[in-house]
Amino acid sequence: MPANDHSGTVALAFSGGLDTTVCVPLLQEEYGYDDVIGVTVDVGQPAEEFDEAEETAEALGLDHYVVDAKAEFADLCMDAVKANATYQGYPLGTALARPVIASAILEVAEEQGCSALAHGCTGKGNDQLRFETVWRDSDLNVHAPVRELGLTREWEQEYADEKGLPVEGGDGGRFSIDTNLWSRSVEGSELEDPAYVPGEEIYDWTQEPGSAEPELLELTFEEGVPVAIDGEEMTPVEIIDHLNDVAGAHGVGRTDTMEDRMLGLKVRENYEHPAASVLLNAHEALEGLVLTKEERSFKTSIDQEWAEKGYQGLVKAPLFRALEGFIDETQTRVTGTVTVKLQGGQARPVGRESEYACYAEGQASFNTEAVTDDIEQADATGVAKYHGFQERLANKVSEAAEDAAAEKTITDYE
Ligand code: ARG
Repeated sequence: MPANDHSGTVALAFSGGLDTTVCVPLLQEEYGYDDVIGVTVDVGQPAEEFDEAEETAEALGLDHYVVDAKAEFADLCMDAVKANATYQGYPLGTALARPVIASAILEVAEEQGCSALAHGCTGKGNDQLRFETVWRDSDLNVHAPVRELGLTREWEQEYADEKGLPVEGGDGGRFSIDTNLWSRSVEGSELEDPAYVPGEEIYDWTQEPGSAEPELLELTFEEGVPVAIDGEEMTPVEIIDHLNDVAGAHGVGRTDTMEDRMLGLKVRENYEHPAASVLLNAHEALEGLVLTKEERSFKTSIDQEWAEKGYQGLVKAPLFRALEGFIDETQTRVTGTVTVKLQGGQARPVGRESEYACYAEGQASFNTEAVTDDIEQADATGVAKYHGFQERLANKVSEAAEDAAAEKTITDYE
């Protein structure tokens, strides 16, 4: 049981769903706060979610603030593109949105002179950790009523009925869904059985692959960041919105994965992320053209670490900044265009071009004799002799040792 002697106002991360709605009276009754304000942060959720939050807040008599953080969130998604970031196949939509949401709520709380912060996350997921790592950096109290009071959905529903709380949406439907600009995630219900094969009803952003005619898109990147589609300049938010529409029609960006959560639980997750798939594939194709082999292979491990920290919500970690320093340095040449073919659920890079291409056609061509002005085919002869020298030697040595051992066994026997 939490202490009931708190005072002042608590800022609650508010969605208008069942969890956060029951948190409003609980923060007063069980924690002792005088007042609650609700904060909803816009990271690209569908309009209905804001309507629901607005209506519920009104019915509760809750002071409600809405903060638009779409541009800031889209910038973080662009950093994810530079880092080719995915965690176990998931482009991190929910994960990256959390620190943005948490920071926006903290800002409102400080402006409004609140003494505490609260969220409606359960004790099983990742989001509690991502919110709290940002909030615990402040002097405000941090509360998680659902986790701290051990609430279940059934208990919440009963409590809401008893109190006459406005929860018309009930538990929000069969699946638990989290949507923002970068991805839509679907979990729970039948999907909890890893063997269950979902039907088209779990998807909202993507059509069944193959239902649209193949299509080509040209993406322009500047220093690793997409800036235009088919020659038309757009903001990151516009690019993401546009690609979610266009590539979603081709069924691009469906992921069904067994996700290892931070607490160690394995959970079946389904995601839709058409824009993320297009941008990540195109960006990687452009890096393939301009970066050296050494940069590409070393960057893979940096990218992996970036995604890991991103998944954990540790985007304010010193390590994260250091990784970004490296990534930004490599991106100074990731400028150019990539043509992507959308077809049958795939966003396949089919052409790329850059003034920084680390590529000399004359060198690689099958058609020319001279490799460059002063290098000829024959120059590779010496390299070919040395190539694999140690490997051949190591094999020879072990064969000889095995033969000697076999010989010894025979002699011993005799
Ligand atoms: N497991 C994912 C993550 O931790 C997303 C969870 C989204 N929540 C949901 N109710 N579908 O990033």
